[in-house]
Amino acid sequence: MSLRAHTILVFDSGLGGLTVLREVMRARPDARFVYAADDAGFPYGRWEEGALVGRILAVMERLIRRFEPDLVVVACNTASTLVLPALRARFTVPFVGTVPAIKPAAERSATRHVAVLATPGTVKRDYTHELVRSFAGDCRVTLVGSSRLAGLAEASLRGETVDEEAIRAEILPCFPADDPRTDVVVLGCTHYPLLADVFVRVAPWPVTWLDPAPAIARRVVHLVGQPLIGHEGDEAGLAVFTGRQEVSPELVRALAGYGLPLVDAEPMPVA
Ligand code: DGL
Repeated sequence: MSLRAHTILVFDSGLGGLTVLREVMRARPDARFVYAADDAGFPYGRWEEGALVGRILAVMERLIRRFEPDLVVVACNTASTLVLPALRARFTVPFVGTVPAIKPAAERSATRHVAVLATPGTVKRDYTHELVRSFAGDCRVTLVGSSRLAGLAEASLRGETVDEEAIRAEILPCFPADDPRTDVVVLGCTHYPLLADVFVRVAPWPVTWLDPAPAIARRVVHLVGQPLIGHEGDEAGLAVFTGRQEVSPELVRALAGYGLPLVDAEPMPVA
């Protein structure tokens, strides 16, 4: 039997999915990784739901045909809370989604007040409201949709200086002044862990910031198994972009730091 390295495709609207990729790469260093960013469609947080489903199905069609992955990680809450059923109905490859970690947040909260910091799309989704009803019924849950943080996170990853006051203003609604105080904040957008250090610095009081990436990596290993012995990450990772991403030297360096030395395009402008 020939043992070929698995191909794992990690998909997001932009660069946020890199925070998930990093954990999955640690768990399966032997796999071949393709990171696909639909940057032509970024940000997904502002899309109308029907149009976003169509967009993601069309992009995924192209990516699956080109890279023939063994597994796809949808490293985007805004997409996963909407499109996973349609993806699973259309394609045979297994999909692992990323959805707000509301259940673990409720399990950890001592004050019974948690906040979910996500995109405006994710906080509107029926799926998110269902997670709250099913797993956090006895908690106060403050849902916060930020339209600026994903862009600020991308700027920070590209090496630009980010305005900490602007970030503070975006996270403040997670911290209502009345009791009980929030003690857990779910990072419900994969871009946000890129700003985790700043969040800790500018938060009005200390909380647990929940990043779902380690749980996603465990789910991937559960589906594709432990690393193959003798294949120790000999495949170079590839990043592909559907659109405008200006591939500056800073971005190339950042991508290489995430194990993606190769960069390519799969042009797919938004009509
Ligand atoms: N990274 C995406 C998420 O997890 C969203 C960013 C966007 O609005 O495109 O929700």
